[in-house]
Amino acid sequence: MNALAATNRNFKLASRILGLDAKLEKSLLIPFREIKVECTIPKDDGTLVSYVGFRVQHDNSRGPMKGGVRYHPEVDPDEVNALAQLMTWKTAVANIPYGGAKGGIGCDPSDLSPSELERLTRVFTQRIHDLIGIHTDVPAPDMGTNAQTMAWILDEYSKFHGHSPAVVTGKPIDLGGSLGRDAATGRGVLFATEALLKEYGKSISGQRFVIQGFGNVGSWASQLISDMGGKIVAVSDITGAIRNKDGIDIPSLLRHAQETRGVKGFSGADAIDPSSIFAEDCDVLIPAALGGAINRDNAVDIKAKFIVEAANHPTDPEADEILKKKGVVILPDIYANSGGVTVSYFEWVQNIQGFMWDENRVNSELKTYMTRGLKDVKEMCQTHNCDLRMGAFTLGLNRVARATLLRGWEA
Ligand SMILES: NC(=O)c1ccc[n+]([C@@H]2O[C@H](COP(=O)([O-])OP(=O)(O)OC[C@H]3O[C@@H](n4cnc5c(N)ncnc54)[C@H](O)[C@@H]3O)[C@@H](O)[C@H]2O)c1
Repeated sequence: MNALAATNRNFKLASRILGLDAKLEKSLLIPFREIKVECTIPKDDGTLVSYVGFRVQHDNSRGPMKGGVRYHPEVDPDEVNALAQLMTWKTAVANIPYGGAKGGIGCDPSDLSPSELERLTRVFTQRIHDLIGIHTDVPAPDMGTNAQTMAWILDEYSKFHGHSPAVVTGKPIDLGGSLGRDAATGRGVLFATEALLKEYGKSISGQRFVIQGFGNVGSWASQLISDMGGKIVAVSDITGAIRNKDGIDIPSLLRHAQETRGVKGFSGADAIDPSSIFAEDCDVLIPAALGGAINRDNAVDIKAKFIVEAANHPTDPEADEILKKKGVVILPDIYANSGGVTVSYFEWVQNIQGFMWDENRVNSELKTYMTRGLKDVKEMCQTHNCDLRMGAFTLGLNRVARATLLRGWEA
């Protein structure tokens, strides 16, 4: 089942639990607007190359649409569509005044030089600048993009609309980025995991963690969990997988990964088969790489008692069923990785106010939002006698449905 089919399935299940009217259900599901643009740039050697860029704006009933821009060879319209929809439910679960969007360019950023990436980002921005904006749609970084990408979008957008720092979030601090934004998704994963473990009388300290993905989210989550006394026993990324049952020294691994661009070859751990990463013995498994990583083939081997979905849509529905039967508790993506969009919201608020918060304020507000988020999700689980995924989906859908009805959707 692809990402869109899986997201639609969860949406339908939640809609049934809430007893939503069929017409309202259809209106909530169909994206507000889908944009597909051609981006042609000269490569450094002068040859022309074309890429396809997408932006799916899913829903704006609760506020401006919000979502990442992803540069990846496998970006396809269906996946962008699913991710845009997930952002709508995610911003509603986090209770921040946004809707959902997602975009991307089908390209391999590692094949492009910095100047080629800059040209591609500027051309993409030229194609969509009329359709994004501070009160319309606010892009942010995602896989394969970063603060520099946002700085180029801000600069290109500002040529058309005047200086507009709030048009993107995840910017460099010098251009109005928020302190704490870089670590926010990983820190949110820490706060979410902490809140979940507390429900079971446990804490981060003493638990064993396996983490797939050592990019922005995976590396920050690893660092913060290890700072809190959690033991990271295995890590994988695109270059390979490593294991150390006594706990990996994360600061050393971070240095190694920065120097060699991956976890492969780290001397403080043993190399293992990356395809068996989910079968590693641990208490908490954190998928922080690609969607669909946990499927029916590898779900049976999972030994973790808890899965915290740091990536978007890492567990496919068949795997979900298998894990449910095994009694594994899954903290769903639309809640667990909402720390990034929550601090993006803080960044947007600071830009609009023209006032910068210190990092302690950002982190402590984030903790408040993440802790309250799990409480709200659990309340829906109790009301509707459902698991955490359905608790989060019903919470998000209910908030968006209420906003849609209040605004009057029958034009
Ligand atoms: N960055 C954010 O703020 C944010 C917010 C919410 C959700 N997410 C989601 O979290 C996930 C990771 O995002 P990121 O920003 O860390 O991306 P990133 O590009 O910084 O890192 C991705 C990591 O995944 C690894 N990876 C890629 N393919 C892999 C494979 N086949 N096997 C193992 N590892 C693989 C890469 O090597 C890298 O370590 C994505 O699903 C993204 O949508 C990110």
